[in-house]
Amino acid sequence: AVKTEHSGTSAANGSGLVYEDKEGNDNVRPEDLSEMLAAGTKEVHEKAENTQFVKDFLRGRIRKELFKLGAVALYYTYTAMEAEIERNKDHPNFAPLYFPNELHRHEALAQDLEYFYGEDWRNQISCSPATQHYVDRIHEVGRDDPVLLVAHAYTRYMGDLSGGQVLKKVAQRALKLPPTGEGLKFYQFDGIHSAKAFKQLYRSRMNELELDTDTKERIVKEAILAFQFNMEVFQELEEIGKTIQDDVLDAGPIHGDMQGDISK
Ligand code: HEM
Repeated sequence: AVKTEHSGTSAANGSGLVYEDKEGNDNVRPEDLSEMLAAGTKEVHEKAENTQFVKDFLRGRIRKELFKLGAVALYYTYTAMEAEIERNKDHPNFAPLYFPNELHRHEALAQDLEYFYGEDWRNQISCSPATQHYVDRIHEVGRDDPVLLVAHAYTRYMGDLSGGQVLKKVAQRALKLPPTGEGLKFYQFDGIHSAKAFKQLYRSRMNELELDTDTKERIVKEAILAFQFNMEVFQELEEIGKTIQDDVLDAGPIHGDMQGDISK
């Protein structure tokens, strides 16, 4: 059983990953998959944090058109990932990590896209090349090597649960979205009251999977790959952002939302 977190937060801890409040479980073991993933993706996580697109986003420098395209990329990514999770929900290497009510983002993203693009949203969006690359790999893994699906679920869901609230606030402010949360449902996990407690549960479930060392190492490699796919998508969005800016400069003042279809 995983104990819920104590109330007083100790954010100033500074030492990174600490699980002192994990009930019953003494120390963290380096051979735990959760530890291998955290350590193995540390470097690529820093790289991801330092991509221009992510840095701009964190500073509130994000245009609505680009934010919308980001939501489109997430929609295709989570549609693929959650289809493969459904396919593998009874697979012993994934079943303990099956939390559809708590985690699944497909529906939230569909609602966000309807808010941004209107009722006809399905006909207005398309999958970008970098997103397609990511999606293809998710399907490949889900069909042929489902033990690696853990890496994809970890990379996205644990990341969403870690930074989601900050990103939500930044976007809400920068894009002047309504305080009701419309357009930002993706960032809102209604079935999770404590992200910290849920992440601990998820880590312990990952550690309960019966996996040999070689498999755990393959999962870490796949998680690094998943981070790289995400960075490719950021890179692509950044490039599109430059063209939007050029359009704006060329076209002179633009009123209201930019409606140009750059989602080819
Ligand atoms: C964890 C910040 C971008 C995936 C974390 C944590 C922080 C953080 C503070 C630690 C939370 C904790 O230990 O409880 C950030 C910031 C980002 C960023 C500031 C950039 C703005 C990303 C991206 C991804 C990602 C782009 C992948 C798509 C993850 C994952 C974890 C995590 C998988 C869980 C690590 C673990 O405990 O094993 N992030 N993150 N993050 N983040 Fe990020």
